[in-house]
Amino acid sequence: MMSEDFTDKIVLITGSSRGIGTAIARKFAGAGADIVLNYRKAGGSSQAQAEKLRDEILAMGRRALLVQADIASYESVKGLFRQTADAFGRLDALVLNAAKAPFKPIERLLERDLRALVDVNYLGNIFCIKEALPLLEKSRGSIVFISSLGSRFYNPAYPLGSMKAAMESVVRDCAETLSEKGISVNAVCGGIVKTDSFKVLRQYWEEIDHLPEKFFVEPDEIADTVLFLCGASSRGIRGQTVVVDRGLGNSLYRSKKK
Ligand SMILES: NC(=O)c1ccc[n+]([C@@H]2O[C@H](COP(=O)([O-])OP(=O)(O)OC[C@H]3O[C@@H](n4cnc5c(N)ncnc54)[C@H](OP(=O)(O)O)[C@@H]3O)[C@@H](O)[C@H]2O)c1
Repeated sequence: MMSEDFTDKIVLITGSSRGIGTAIARKFAGAGADIVLNYRKAGGSSQAQAEKLRDEILAMGRRALLVQADIASYESVKGLFRQTADAFGRLDALVLNAAKAPFKPIERLLERDLRALVDVNYLGNIFCIKEALPLLEKSRGSIVFISSLGSRFYNPAYPLGSMKAAMESVVRDCAETLSEKGISVNAVCGGIVKTDSFKVLRQYWEEIDHLPEKFFVEPDEIADTVLFLCGASSRGIRGQTVVVDRGLGNSLYRSKKK
């Protein structure tokens, strides 16, 4: 199958300074797109990695804009989309990838943990959708949300799963309400990927070390599906969550403790 060409398309990926977001940004740039990169934490390793990625994309001959913005803040999100409009004047795809949550059972979350959980992982995504709309409407563009298996299965100490489930519902809702504007809305539900957040997950889920290597998903495998959902070949798919988990969710796999 020929890969999609995104030449002259503008793609914004939230939380693209590392992990899966970086893989998605690289993949779109490789397919010809100009990229808006976003990260949250100024002055640290996240910013340094985002700057390196921006330079890598520029060296590929694409345009790249790097914006520090915390999606939990509506003002910050407004600034992210204002800068995107000023720099490129258009937006063809929005990838809702940023996420952050404490690894704790829900009943042990403090009030501030609970509010941050909702602010970043639910409201933050909706702020982005709202602010992207005027641009996406003009381009009849796409929105892809990055979900996880926690939306449908129990994962130890993973309250983020409840927000992923809520967002999959938002995806179904927006796919209907935005279809008349020509905007496609779908999600990719990733299996387990060895990113920085996985290092933390391991501390709370010791059985994960016994998971056969064949079940670990590469960031690139998620990125390929995101590109597919933003391209013309997926024109018949609306409001769906595509699971990319190498069959883990289908396998009834039970870990063997040592
Ligand atoms: N890793 C997995 O096994 C897995 C599996 C399925 C789905 N997913 C999902 O895939 C996405 C990426 O996961 P990952 O493992 O690559 O994550 P990660 O390594 O923890 O990276 C998260 C990214 O999101 C950014 N971010 C966090 N909070 C933000 C905020 N409030 N505003 C803007 N950016 C923010 C981070 O920037 P800073 O560093 O500056 O905070 C970073 O760039 C997430 O939605 C995650 O739930 C992950």
